[in-house]
Amino acid sequence: MQKVLLIGANGFLGSKLIYYIQNELYSHKFIPIAADIQNNTIPKEIDFQRIDITNKEKTIETIKKINPDTVILTAAYTDVDKCEDEKKLAHDLNILGPENVALGCREINSKIIVLSTDFVFDGKKGDYSEIDEPKPLSYYAKTKFEGEKRIIKTRVDYLICRTAVLYGWYPYRQNFITWILNNLEKGNKINIVTEQINSPTLANNLAEILLHLIDYNKSGIIHTAGDYALSRYEIAVKCAEIFSFSQKLIHPIDFFKQKAIRPKNASLNISKLKKILGNKLKIFNLDEGLNFMKEHKNL
Ligand SMILES: NC(=O)c1ccc[n+]([C@@H]2O[C@H](COP(=O)([O-])OP(=O)(O)OC[C@H]3O[C@@H](n4cnc5c(N)ncnc54)[C@H](OP(=O)(O)O)[C@@H]3O)[C@@H](O)[C@H]2O)c1
Repeated sequence: MQKVLLIGANGFLGSKLIYYIQNELYSHKFIPIAADIQNNTIPKEIDFQRIDITNKEKTIETIKKINPDTVILTAAYTDVDKCEDEKKLAHDLNILGPENVALGCREINSKIIVLSTDFVFDGKKGDYSEIDEPKPLSYYAKTKFEGEKRIIKTRVDYLICRTAVLYGWYPYRQNFITWILNNLEKGNKINIVTEQINSPTLANNLAEILLHLIDYNKSGIIHTAGDYALSRYEIAVKCAEIFSFSQKLIHPIDFFKQKAIRPKNASLNISKLKKILGNKLKIFNLDEGLNFMKEHKNL
């Protein structure tokens, strides 16, 4: 069995990993240890360690003490607009944090799996593959790309998984899709931009994809996003269609003023991931992901 340390375990993706790693499909393969800056949500049966990834010495020391085979790092400063104002925090969490964790992993020869973003690309081309050159636009994106580079530089065994627009049920914070569903359910009119294209990714599906990639011992960079890219407006229309809400509430707009600049078309090419997974695990498109949410309201 593999010992897997999940840093960022309270967060959106972290909580899905905690759920799936306990599932009978995976529980015979992995021994989970949860870590985060504090213990908010971790089930009692899972070991918890407090780790602040910005504290270099303690992070390295704790990783060495736990001695995991693999570390999955989902902890990050993820609020794209706030990163523009809180540059020091974003720098410490998204650049120094991954570097510190990678240094700890390198000392004990364990693997680091780190989550990155489609926003590392400038969005001029779309359908980005792993060999396309990143050109981040916002401060968040710059820190995430620099975090990738710092990890590679430590010469640790790494897997960088770039993902996009995570969605699914999560009681502690809304995501783009739960925000749309909430508004449509209340009958609120919403203005949604047509000019931003991404590959929406069901967090539940991504958690299972990551557990498969540990099992297959994959290294390097892999785009791990949902199957099929859509504009934000098309995403909203799909939400209305699948959850039977009125599409008339959704108004397309060309431009939406946001603090951080977003790439126009950051869609990710997932051919590499599809080849690795073969028919072992389905990569969900938005229809399948929304139907999954409809059928599993507590998952
Ligand atoms: N969400 C998306 O749409 C999206 C899209 C593309 C890529 N990604 C990437 O996917 C990963 C996971 O995203 P997510 O949405 O699951 O993130 P999240 O919900 O924001 O979770 C991050 C977790 O890290 C914790 N944390 C904060 N500071 C920490 C520190 N110093 N040391 C240790 N833990 C700390 C947070 O705790 P507190 O909540 O207490 O601060 C939180 O539990 C991130 O790397 C993100 O960049 C996400």
